[in-house]
Amino acid sequence: TTNQQWGGRFNEPTDAFVARFTASVQFDQRMYKQDIRGSIAHATMLEMAGVLTVEERDLIVNGLNEIQSDIEAGNFEWSIELEDVHMNIEAALTKKIGITGKKLHTGRSRNDQVATDIRLFVRDEIDLILAEITRLQQGLAELAEGEADTIMPGFTHLQTAQPVTFGHHLMAWFEMLTRDYQRFEDVRKRVNVMPLGAAALAGTTYPIQRHVTCELLGFDAPAENSLDAVSDRDFAIEFCAASSIMMMHMTRMSEELVLWTSAQFNFINLPDRFCTGSSIMPQKKNPDVPELVRGKSGRVYGHLFSLLTLMKSQPLAYNKDNQEDKEPLFDAIDTVKGCLRAFADMVPALESRKEYMREAALRGFSTATDLADYLVRKGMPFRDAHEVVGKSVAYGIESGKDLGEMTLNELQQFSDTISEDVFDVLTLEGSVAARDHVGGTAPNQVRAAVTRAKAMLAKR
Ligand code: ARG
Repeated sequence: TTNQQWGGRFNEPTDAFVARFTASVQFDQRMYKQDIRGSIAHATMLEMAGVLTVEERDLIVNGLNEIQSDIEAGNFEWSIELEDVHMNIEAALTKKIGITGKKLHTGRSRNDQVATDIRLFVRDEIDLILAEITRLQQGLAELAEGEADTIMPGFTHLQTAQPVTFGHHLMAWFEMLTRDYQRFEDVRKRVNVMPLGAAALAGTTYPIQRHVTCELLGFDAPAENSLDAVSDRDFAIEFCAASSIMMMHMTRMSEELVLWTSAQFNFINLPDRFCTGSSIMPQKKNPDVPELVRGKSGRVYGHLFSLLTLMKSQPLAYNKDNQEDKEPLFDAIDTVKGCLRAFADMVPALESRKEYMREAALRGFSTATDLADYLVRKGMPFRDAHEVVGKSVAYGIESGKDLGEMTLNELQQFSDTISEDVFDVLTLEGSVAARDHVGGTAPNQVRAAVTRAKAMLAKR
């Protein structure tokens, strides 16, 4: 027998392999809730438009609700022969309620149906992702507050540069995530446009009321152009782009966590529950969670490129190519959610090893800029001050002393502008406290940044 949904014009059944090859039900059944929600809205609208009777609509709506319960109870048999989630559910409806089930698809095509389903699905997932970013940011702000006075070396080129506070470093991560949050919010606007009503590509001859389905489904507006509506997947690409940028941020955080947990840095302790051991080396405790997050970025970047390539050169309107949008999109969603969850659980549990951070900041002449600034305040041009401090550092390397460990006499070899008060600026505390402006690393500025951050989060 030929396919019951579209077999009318066919003379032989689909080749068994082709049926499997072209089916998507294995992965698009994930959208069953969105599919049912969309169908209920469509049936409701069809009744208002006079296309279905009240009785027909009620039969359809009740049938669809039952199907949802069946699926959720594990009492639904998905069939490859029925190709995708849409035709599986429609066939089940007809089986349940009889010929009225066959009226549901009036004025609709799988092309506008699937585009609507994915948008509903991505919208729901974006909302979960936004909530999880917020949870991670709350953890970061909390941790940063407690670490506002903790001094560590700040790096450029991964070489010790200037002392910073650990809280300040954590709030830099916070800022990356704020931009990620904004990007997902922005993507959501373009996700939340309704294709339904575009039908196959040209619209439909039935008196549909798109603003009704639009409102029932919580979309901001119906898509303007039916050809574009069924073929646009920009929103999926944008979702993967926002996800890729966020994953990139998480690889940067991961990299630092991996470095910091090493014996060579020893800046932080990751609680055992976020680490695993080695089957051969008994002493090992590996930072698997950040490493895995770093590694998983590859998939998400890959999915972004899959989707860009998928859409490249596609003529209007719908092409079967588009069925390939789902697996990359779903895996990007799962990966991003998994990584965010791991981070949101782990970050608040980080323990700083303040002594080691401090010791590292004391090594590496991290207050050299402070000494130069000191000389400038005493009237020396900055370039000359740079030279003086450079010579002091060279002496320090030779004698094995950091700037703060030298005597006044030793320092005065390089400039007689230096006097006793120099030691105020050569301390780590003096150095960070002096960077006392909005966005600076001074502990009171970090506390102020945390206060602003918490107020911002409270408004979400
Ligand atoms: N499973 C299809 C997809 O994911 C649904 C749309 C099919 N439309 C069609 N004309 N074959 O895109």
